[in-house]
Amino acid sequence: MLSVAAIVAAAGHGERLGDGDPTASTAPRAPTAPKALRDLAGVPMVVHAVRALAAARGVDLVVVAAPPDRVEDTRTLLRDQHEGADLEVVAGGATRPESVRAALAALPQATTTVLVHDAARPLAPVDLVEAVVAALADGADAVVPGVPVVDTVKAVADGVVTATLDRSGLCAVQTPQGFRREVLERAHDAHDAHDRGGPDVTDDAGLVERLGVRVVVVPGHAEAFKVTRPLDLLLAAAVLAGREVVTGGR
Ligand code: CTP
Ligand code: MG
Repeated sequence: MLSVAAIVAAAGHGERLGDGDPTASTAPRAPTAPKALRDLAGVPMVVHAVRALAAARGVDLVVVAAPPDRVEDTRTLLRDQHEGADLEVVAGGATRPESVRAALAALPQATTTVLVHDAARPLAPVDLVEAVVAALADGADAVVPGVPVVDTVKAVADGVVTATLDRSGLCAVQTPQGFRREVLERAHDAHDAHDRGGPDVTDDAGLVERLGVRVVVVPGHAEAFKVTRPLDLLLAAAVLAGREVVTGGR
């Protein structure tokens, strides 16, 4: 039996979202609040994310890495919003890997399996979470949800194209990503020891790949997109409005 904990990386600033006005013609102004605490249809993004993880079959515990100065607020926001799993809130770090590490340090000994999710993907469906857990239960050491890339992707240096990549071999990956706990901890230890200060690390599977561990891809979901820029807020609001229609507001 797996004992699954889900980590939510929620300590980022949301610089690219800024003040979140999708109609603004100028660059976004400074964020008014950390992105994970910003409302989506009246509910903070981190609350949407935690609800889905906690509701997923097999997830026993959710650990949120909150903005360090908002740990108490985050705890308050999430009280009674984690039906289906226990909840823990810890202070995140200055980088995403540091936030994940802080949450890893808070896991109980019994945890065998870890999901890592971005609070910035508040609409990832429960079914997607369960598909990642199922792949781990089938024996995978590491799992990522992936969706085909729709744009043509080019390598560019100094404003000039240097290559066109073969799109058929490319996949955009989402979260939650899932790992055997020992593998994820080893990957973060190696990163911490050798490559801190290197290029930005934007996901956990990237660290696990460096260990030579096989990372399995399961089909991702369009609604697990990341809220990064102001326009993404409009899309997220539209998705939620669509869900209201389907469920009649239940
Ligand atoms: N994250 C985190 N700790 C950090 C930085 C990021 O937990 N020090 C989290 C974010 O809260 C987010 C996820 O990692 O849920 C993905 O990061 P991203 O989309 O880049 O969010 P932000 O870093 O908040 O946004 P930006 O890069 O635009 O400032
Ligand atoms: Mg970031």
